[in-house]
Amino acid sequence: MAHFANSEQHPDDLHKLVQACVVPRPIAFVSSITREGNANLAPFSYFNAVGGRPPTLMFSVGDREGEMKDTAHNVVHEVPEFVVHIVSEELAEAMNVTSGEFGAHVDEFREAGLTAAPGAVVRVPWVREAPVAMECRFLQHVRIGRNTIIFGEVVYWHIADGVLDARGRVDAGKLKAVGRLGGMDYTRTRDRFTIVRPVIAPEDPRSVPSYRATQAQPPALARGR
Ligand SMILES: Cc1cc2nc3c(=O)[nH]c(=O)nc-3n(C[C@H](O)[C@H](O)[C@H](O)COP(=O)(O)O)c2cc1C
Repeated sequence: MAHFANSEQHPDDLHKLVQACVVPRPIAFVSSITREGNANLAPFSYFNAVGGRPPTLMFSVGDREGEMKDTAHNVVHEVPEFVVHIVSEELAEAMNVTSGEFGAHVDEFREAGLTAAPGAVVRVPWVREAPVAMECRFLQHVRIGRNTIIFGEVVYWHIADGVLDARGRVDAGKLKAVGRLGGMDYTRTRDRFTIVRPVIAPEDPRSVPSYRATQAQPPALARGR
């Protein structure tokens, strides 16, 4: 095994190591706007869900030459709203186009040939081609090192009919989300397996005293517009 402290490595190699080890990373494909309404679109794989009650997401934006990238600047300093899209296999190439280091005046929707649809409850447009678009209100940001971690609450959902199963639930096989690996590599989510969680009976002395295991099924999604 290799054993080492950060001090024994070059910072660039540590950066690559994080990206190679913490895999697969989901990709937040994020739209945001300036006060003037100029749209911006870019992917961020330092991304995850914070929790479901309320639905809360986070993503982390590294500085570019000592300045916040456009997405972080827009959300923190311009309009405190954004939309996170899930990147499907079909959307991967267009997503990659938007990761080019375009100037703030460039509309990445146009560069990537994507359709900007008006937000239902936020001013930020969303990507019509995305299988899932989550309109978010900005909650807060945290600065760690050269990164701005942005937290937002999902306040409105757009989910394509094509990714729902017969019971109205999101089907991973239809969603076809892609994840980021190290370097320029990605992974698909086609190879899945199921592991049933252990259920510790309340009368079992090893159980959490206050815990009641339930088999409650989540409700099917209400179909809106
Ligand atoms: C798949 C993918 C994931 C990325 N993840 C991040 C990330 O987590 N944080 C980051 O700062 N940049 C990340 N980038 C690079 C940004 O997308 C890129 O710097 C982009 O130009 C930022 O756009 P903006 O200035 O319009 O916000 C990623 C790029 C790709 C292709």
